[in-house]
Amino acid sequence: MIKLDLSGVSPFLEKSQWQKTEQVGQIHDTLVNNYGVDYDFTTWMNLPETYDKDEFRRIKQAAEKIKSEADVLLVIGVGGSYLGARAGIELLRSPNYNLTSKYTPNIYFVGNNLSAEHINEIGHLLKDKNFSINVVSKSGGTLEPGIAFRVFKNFLESRYGDIGAKGRIYVTTDRGKGSLRKWADKEGFESFKIPDRIGGRYSILTAAGLLPMATAGIDIDKVMAGAFEAMKTYLVDKSFDNPVWQYAAVRQALYAEGRNIEVLASFEPAFRFMAEWWRQLFGESEGKSHGGIFPSSVDFSADLHAMGQYLQDGSRNLMETVVSFDSFRRDIKVPPIAEDYDGLNYLAGRSVDSINQIARQATVKAHVDGGVPVMGLSLPDMSDTAFGWLVYFFQFSAALSASIQGVNPFDQPGVEAYKANMFRLLGKPE
Ligand code: PA5
Repeated sequence: MIKLDLSGVSPFLEKSQWQKTEQVGQIHDTLVNNYGVDYDFTTWMNLPETYDKDEFRRIKQAAEKIKSEADVLLVIGVGGSYLGARAGIELLRSPNYNLTSKYTPNIYFVGNNLSAEHINEIGHLLKDKNFSINVVSKSGGTLEPGIAFRVFKNFLESRYGDIGAKGRIYVTTDRGKGSLRKWADKEGFESFKIPDRIGGRYSILTAAGLLPMATAGIDIDKVMAGAFEAMKTYLVDKSFDNPVWQYAAVRQALYAEGRNIEVLASFEPAFRFMAEWWRQLFGESEGKSHGGIFPSSVDFSADLHAMGQYLQDGSRNLMETVVSFDSFRRDIKVPPIAEDYDGLNYLAGRSVDSINQIARQATVKAHVDGGVPVMGLSLPDMSDTAFGWLVYFFQFSAALSASIQGVNPFDQPGVEAYKANMFRLLGKPE
């Protein structure tokens, strides 16, 4: 399903620098067998097989109910409790989903910032709309979604009354811990769980990602089927034929050579939030002990006109990963015009997609020639199944890559520092 093209890396690395079978094999076993306390967050690895089928059915039923009762689903969450759902909806439906969705509710994302402007604007957009809320927080105690939930729950109650509002609130949180879990149980909100031992950034295939995606009309059976196929393939293949091994080991070998920034690029605007999700996945998994590859992303060809100069000619501490799709949902041809004022008639009749593919090939060649190692990651299409596969590929790659680097892929001690300052300044009681 996923093909990794390493021809753009070979001018920069010898195979012996990254094909360390014994080391990677040991890490693979450690992850799969969940040895040791440091690796205690690996439930996501078997999730495509072991997920709770009853809850999965309830997720689909809840999505149908939301479709029948609401014009808008408000998804309240931040970080791992937000990015996966948005990534799936933008890639599989459209970045313009809210303008183009005819038969499924609009999805508005809030609670991912502290902007009063943003909250007010969403409130204004809800004025004449029927809406429901899916509040997502693993810990149940995160400030951004907490504030947004208070605001929009009030809004919901003033619109539908206490009982009516209750029937429109869907909570996704920990099975047993946290204030949101207590609240949901006490008030009887419909609720879903983020299973134990799955960190936020590895939770996209739980209700956190699945309920908003199902509401947007995505076939979550296919998403899980794609992830399951990936799981079967990548967990058993303990060799450098496994693209997860290749991707993880090559990026770490490049990092050892001083390449400390990875740029994830795609020529599809629909991929933008997938790249945002990827940034969190890799950034939080690897950015530790004052080390780690800094994950950044660009949206080509738009960013060739903004970041192209730097990528071609700036500091040579970059590596690049270019994601592409072999087939497309829609294409369009360049129309001819009689006078050829713009000089583009040499492209008349040509498919825009084929021109996009040429732009990609040209860019990869230029960047490799300019001193940037480039990995090419291709998928057959932008289908629900391919998405599930890609999610699993990246999650396993992040865990393997962080482990090769020698850090725990599943903790995030660094995110506490700003929170401690902020809560002190806000006067939070001890
Ligand atoms: O990966 C993580 O753990 C974080 O990004 C969390 O997802 C994010 O901070 C939101 O946390 P919570 O789901 O507990 O509200």
